[in-house]
Amino acid sequence: MTSPALPHYIDGERVRADASNASLNPSNTDEVVALFPEGGEAEVDAAVQAARRAFPAWSEASPELRSDCLDRVGDAILNRREELGHLLSREEGKTLAEGIGETARAGRIFKYFAGEALRRHGQNLDSVRPGVEIQTYRQAVGVFGLITPWNFPIAIPAWKAAPALAFGNTVVLKPAGPTPAIAAALADIIFDAAVPKGVFNLVFGGGRVGEAIVRHPGIDGISFTGSQRVGQSVAAGAVARQARVQLEMGGKNPLVVLDDADLDRAVGIALDGGYFATGQRCTASSKLIVTAGIHDRFVAALAQRLEALRIGDALDPQTQMGPAVSAEQLEQNLRYVEIARQEGGRVLGGGQPLQLATPGYYMSPALVTETGPEMRINREEVFGPVASVLRVKNYEEALEQANGGEFGLSAGIVTGSLKHARHFQRAVRAGMVMVNLATAGVDYHVPFGGTRKSSYGQREQGFAAVEFYTQTKTAYSWS
Ligand code: UN1
Repeated sequence: MTSPALPHYIDGERVRADASNASLNPSNTDEVVALFPEGGEAEVDAAVQAARRAFPAWSEASPELRSDCLDRVGDAILNRREELGHLLSREEGKTLAEGIGETARAGRIFKYFAGEALRRHGQNLDSVRPGVEIQTYRQAVGVFGLITPWNFPIAIPAWKAAPALAFGNTVVLKPAGPTPAIAAALADIIFDAAVPKGVFNLVFGGGRVGEAIVRHPGIDGISFTGSQRVGQSVAAGAVARQARVQLEMGGKNPLVVLDDADLDRAVGIALDGGYFATGQRCTASSKLIVTAGIHDRFVAALAQRLEALRIGDALDPQTQMGPAVSAEQLEQNLRYVEIARQEGGRVLGGGQPLQLATPGYYMSPALVTETGPEMRINREEVFGPVASVLRVKNYEEALEQANGGEFGLSAGIVTGSLKHARHFQRAVRAGMVMVNLATAGVDYHVPFGGTRKSSYGQREQGFAAVEFYTQTKTAYSWS
């Protein structure tokens, strides 16, 4: 099978260029999924110019036109969820069920924002001066640069592009290197949904493309999901020229398990949050904080479930956990297991590379027990199927540990105690808090984002997206 050579998507055209990069199937690295070009400043500039030209008509069009476009995109994604989910899993390595689920989520996001496009988000207020009326409008901002990661290669582009487009902005997307084929599939759907030319543009390439987007004076706002290191330079570049900016970065998300938790439920939640999607979620439950009375039973039961996990080709319906996305990611996961061991942790469940029938980036999941709060495994994001366990005396100590470290994206607690659950909801330092649920796996119609080093700027998704992708005008009138 020859792999498709993907084009850039600029100004309504599929722009062919030397497709010198390849994306591999992480479940079988003998298989090239797609070839794609390496863009640079020239392609970004052409895309930004096209987006600027398209902006006036798109932002001033009837909201019904934008709503219909987004609705068609959402329908097309939902109708093709099996095929697109298959492509996603083949390219990213999450299981087929996860790939199809993510694709459906992307379709739902477009349909949700098709509705939002019609909703008037302004207000009417009485002035303090009798006879004077005040209205606030929410208007489009301009051109948004969207920089997205490989771990949710259709849902994250959807949750940035759909609200941007809904409120009349135009877009230049730079998708992540390991997952170009699913990004191109999304661009094809948007092009085929009669979205006017120049409204949505996509440029492939590495850091140079990202930098060109951040620096370009024609980009009015940037939404970024990725690493903290890159995020900091995106923010610095954006702030330097007063572009609005939003960052979603790492997490070291605590899941507290209290003595009174239902053991099976707690183990199921930890397995889902820590290991599904191969742990490649910024919301992964990677730091398990367990009180002493349940600790040993919890660890034994979770280790047993990890031993039984079926690890294999993402496209095999029997597979429960797929490979890491890339050689670098696999290497990072294994390195962290080794560091944790050297720092005194006990590794259960494996944490070893696996040789399966096809060459892929497979590893057995790792559960690191007997850890201390200062160990790197409890402070740094691994982004793989590796979770650590911290043993604590009681709820108060669990909360203190949950609030340690630099990150604050999502936090969870498993307990039967309403008192502790409600206290945790209020007191934990995180942008999202889950009671008797994993820290990962969020809805698409409510705000998403974290505190401290996890996020910067506005929240994403749901009604929070209205804030970021519009600007307020306050109008006074006296007749
Ligand atoms: C989820 O947990 O459902 O990159 C979504 C990430 C997050 C998305 C998590 N921005 O993992």
